[in-house]
Amino acid sequence: MVYLRITNKLDWQKRIMSKRILVTGGSGFIGSAITNFLVKKGHKVTVFDNNSRGKVERLKSVKNKIKFYIGDIRDKKKLNSIQGKFDYLIHLAYVNGTKNFYKKPFEILDIAVNGFLNILEFSNRKNIKNIYLASSSEVYNNPTKIPTDEKETLKIPDINNPRYSYGGGKIFSELYGINFAKKFRKKFVIFRPHNVYGEDMGNDHVIPEFIQRIKKIKKNQKFTIQGSGNEIRSFIYIDDFINGFEKIFNKGKNLEIYNIGTKEKIKIINLAKKISKIFNVKIKIKKTKLTKGSPKKRCPNIKKIEKLGFKQEYNLEKGLKKIIFK
Ligand SMILES: NC(=O)c1ccc[n+]([C@@H]2O[C@H](COP(=O)([O-])OP(=O)(O)OC[C@H]3O[C@@H](n4cnc5c(N)ncnc54)[C@H](O)[C@@H]3O)[C@@H](O)[C@H]2O)c1
Repeated sequence: MVYLRITNKLDWQKRIMSKRILVTGGSGFIGSAITNFLVKKGHKVTVFDNNSRGKVERLKSVKNKIKFYIGDIRDKKKLNSIQGKFDYLIHLAYVNGTKNFYKKPFEILDIAVNGFLNILEFSNRKNIKNIYLASSSEVYNNPTKIPTDEKETLKIPDINNPRYSYGGGKIFSELYGINFAKKFRKKFVIFRPHNVYGEDMGNDHVIPEFIQRIKKIKKNQKFTIQGSGNEIRSFIYIDDFINGFEKIFNKGKNLEIYNIGTKEKIKIINLAKKISKIFNVKIKIKKTKLTKGSPKKRCPNIKKIEKLGFKQEYNLEKGLKKIIFK
């Protein structure tokens, strides 16, 4: 009898803690990691994704626990077919991958503007009170200081460069979202991921692309990199990213912006050398021209998420070995 009462109390507490969450872009690299994490924490998750870059297999371990809608956020009818109520909306749906910024700038902006407006309208229709927006380190472009804090000026340095469709779209979403949230009294939190990497992220990002090429390279063969190799980035392993996201999800404040990344900087030339060392091959680096608009240095100041309790667990060496020897 006593045992039953305790179990009921626990069930009841769990139900109160459990949130109803809609994740757009939930079959993507980061979205699926967030969905898997939220389901494990006992939340009820619905995913909306057009699977243009997403893969349902990333959600196989939680497939019986989530609802999945395949659709484009620009399609209002499809969005409105989503059943149920939600406490939270986590918006990640977007076109990632630098090559795409140059190839389909209009589509990117269309998703950032018309897709995002649909999402916000949907949040009003469903009375969703909490919105979390995935922005990006791209909004800083070439920042004035390294490490870069969240107060840095956001930039679109050349309106004619298609690359800035991506960063420009994120700047629009941040600006519109903040003012929308103020007007309609919602909680709105922005996070800016900085070069997240992990297993199954697709090959059109620097780390998996380097790994794929170095894996096949013969001793002392030329290895082409974009730029002089002195470009600086900070990479964060997906488990650390989720750890940072958790802190923001639980403790992030209304209208605040949080970088998610690490302080560990590396030159691209050294990244190539580090990976080749893991594979035990010697490579000859061949430098090429940097793509127009690519930032020279990028490294976040992460004091704000550290104050929420974030700690990096995977240094680059450990994270690289994890994905290479998975
Ligand atoms: N991966 C990173 O290092 C990084 C860095 C900065 C910002 N971000 C942001 O984080 C979010 C997730 O990035 P990711 O790395 O998981 O990319 P991803 O491409 O793996 O995920 C994006 C998801 O959005 C979906 N999508 C695209 N357009 C859509 C549309 N019109 N309607 C519905 N779904 C659509 C894709 O199918 C995909 O599953 C994105 O908003 C991205 O801009 C990622």
